[in-house]
Amino acid sequence: MLKAAVIGVGSIGQHHARVYREMDGVELVAIADANAGTAAKIGNRQNVPYYTDYQQMIDEKKPDLISVCVPTSLHFKVGSDLMEQGLNILLEKPIASTIEQGEKLVALAKEKGVVLAVGHIERFNPAAMELRRRLREGMIGKLYQISARRVSPYPPRIQDAGVIIDLASHDIDLMRYLADEPVQRVYGETVQSINSDREDMFNGLMRFQSGAVGVLDVNWISPTKIRQIHVTGSRGLFRCDLLSQELYFYENESAPSQWDTLAILRGVSEGNVLGIRINRHEPLAAELNDFVASVRDSRKPTVAGEDGLATLKLALDFVKSGREVALIAE
Ligand SMILES: NC(=O)c1ccc[n+]([C@@H]2O[C@H](COP(=O)([O-])OP(=O)(O)OC[C@H]3O[C@@H](n4cnc5c(N)ncnc54)[C@H](O)[C@@H]3O)[C@@H](O)[C@H]2O)c1
Repeated sequence: MLKAAVIGVGSIGQHHARVYREMDGVELVAIADANAGTAAKIGNRQNVPYYTDYQQMIDEKKPDLISVCVPTSLHFKVGSDLMEQGLNILLEKPIASTIEQGEKLVALAKEKGVVLAVGHIERFNPAAMELRRRLREGMIGKLYQISARRVSPYPPRIQDAGVIIDLASHDIDLMRYLADEPVQRVYGETVQSINSDREDMFNGLMRFQSGAVGVLDVNWISPTKIRQIHVTGSRGLFRCDLLSQELYFYENESAPSQWDTLAILRGVSEGNVLGIRINRHEPLAAELNDFVASVRDSRKPTVAGEDGLATLKLALDFVKSGREVALIAE
């Protein structure tokens, strides 16, 4: 039995607590939250001891692994404090606020020989997992474009990050995972509408080494929630809905008959539409199972600190691009 704990049981942390509570082979030994009311509410709901001081929780309950779900600006402070003590951690996304902090966290995990996982949860979305499997099999032919749309209403509780770091980092990470190749350049446009010091709307372009293009349309100023990925290639188009966990393939009837990734696109016409069966599951449960297994088996988690850092670097490049790149049109 591995002993689990959660630090920060707000919007997302309370679900970490619930999932650990329901997981086989794991005992949720306690939760901690600096807000006494929140700590009591979630502690009572999950029927586990609760603390406002996480160090006291660690000293008394001695957990083997901890989910860190405090606000992003505290990831570095809390994450490094725990790893210094030899604890295995899953840090919610993004890994940290700055590249320097991210690099220090990755180095510390290595030095201490502990597991550092980062909560880029979309990699555990069953529709995205199936999409990745099909891309690797070559079903799309030559990859041309991955496009992501993630829009929703404004979350007032997020006070320490703009929409790129907070929301688009999900899609940046997922695109890295799906394309599985280095990114050569990025370009972003941002708009501030609610906040005066950080972006609320983001449109981004990223170019992968093979020439495939990533397109991002992300904001938190929309009165509806959409989370979609489209992947276009020589053999057709995938449409993936991350919310409903659905995946469809629209075949290009004019594509070359063999799954030849180098085949030249001869034309495009509408072919069969395939609804792909998805074995649905809760992404968070899969993410935490992967974290627990990586601790148990002493292996890298699916989203290691290095992945979190690579994604953060791209996200910060987009922030910089949105702020600094200006094309003057006369
Ligand atoms: N993977 C996802 O889908 C997902 C979703 C939401 C949030 N997140 C990430 O999770 C983190 C938390 O976001 P949230 O929306 O749950 O925020 P939140 O404000 O709802 O919750 C954060 C909690 O941390 C507590 N806290 C603050 N400082 C603390 C400390 N020193 N010790 C213990 N507890 C402390 C707060 O009291 C609060 O209850 C952010 O980094 C965010 O980016 C990830």
